[in-house]
Amino acid sequence: MKENLAAIVRPLLDWYNVNKRTLPWRGIRDPYKVLVSEIMLQQTRVAAVIPYYFRWMEELPDVEALANADEERLMKLWQGLGYYNRARNLQKAARMVMEEYGGRFPEEYGELLRLPGVGDYTAGAVASIAFGRRVPAVDGNVLRVAARVTGTDGDILDPRVRRWFRDQMEAVTPEDRPGEFNQALMDLGATICLPNGAPDCGRCPLSGLCEANRQSLQDKLPVRRKKAARRTEELTVYLLVRQGRVALRRRENAGLLAGLWEFPHVPGALTDEEAAKPLAGWGLTAREWRKKLSAKHIFTHVEWRMTGYLLEAAGTGSGFTWADRAELEALAVPSAFGKFLEEARRALEEETR
Ligand code: ADE
Repeated sequence: MKENLAAIVRPLLDWYNVNKRTLPWRGIRDPYKVLVSEIMLQQTRVAAVIPYYFRWMEELPDVEALANADEERLMKLWQGLGYYNRARNLQKAARMVMEEYGGRFPEEYGELLRLPGVGDYTAGAVASIAFGRRVPAVDGNVLRVAARVTGTDGDILDPRVRRWFRDQMEAVTPEDRPGEFNQALMDLGATICLPNGAPDCGRCPLSGLCEANRQSLQDKLPVRRKKAARRTEELTVYLLVRQGRVALRRRENAGLLAGLWEFPHVPGALTDEEAAKPLAGWGLTAREWRKKLSAKHIFTHVEWRMTGYLLEAAGTGSGFTWADRAELEALAVPSAFGKFLEEARRALEEETR
């Protein structure tokens, strides 16, 4: 073990006592609430999560409520957070807690790990925060702090290196207040030991024992070597407006954004001349082309470059749900279509004015 890692415990906990962030889930040891907050916080910033967390807890205050929740409602509560499988897995986990554990969360790291959507980080966070188990919870923030403190230049995107860091953290996680220790690391990573070479070492309780600080390597650590390959997909999205309603369809139940609602689209970036072609296949014709739009959305493995057409359509159209303004609000349309959703709202409002 790196000696300086063991030395962080005391100064970090002392720092946390005074500097911890005030967050809605702080000080709460209800494992359901800890789990929901941790899942929401994956891939999403604290400030963005807070209103979602409050709305969720108001409607689904306990594990039983989540287990019984209607899927459409669930997607709606998650709308805008992205990575919708997180919400689906949360519900599966809630059902497993109800069915296999009689509604009481398991308390051990290894059992928590069995819950759908719960990986090493989340199991560690719940076990340590809710149940006081001595387990690390190593997320990106913690990896950054650990890489800098120890001056380790292993690639943090390499699973073996992550495993090594996890083992190091496990060795130093204190018996006393492990949940607070883990959250102290997260807060330090989020407020002081910032990424992109911008840490505030002057205010850091660990600066005196930090290798990166000693060798001025803050902007070199942590190392991320592998770059996730992301392919680009072009698509053409249609805002088909007819009698105060807009066409939506449901995505299939597997794959990206499974089961969510979307505006009809076709592959490719269709030009103005080509854009009418798909309409015939949908049993529609264009009455009036109103607007051309463009947007992009970045997912983990793919980037969508979208061309959009807003038009007034005529014809019966098949396979679509024609949503009025209120119905549009009730359906979960993912943020990837956010710009088009805004545009559709505006168009429907104008129609009904
Ligand atoms: N990021 C993820 N989980 C967190 C937590 N419990 N506290 C602060 N930041 C976090």
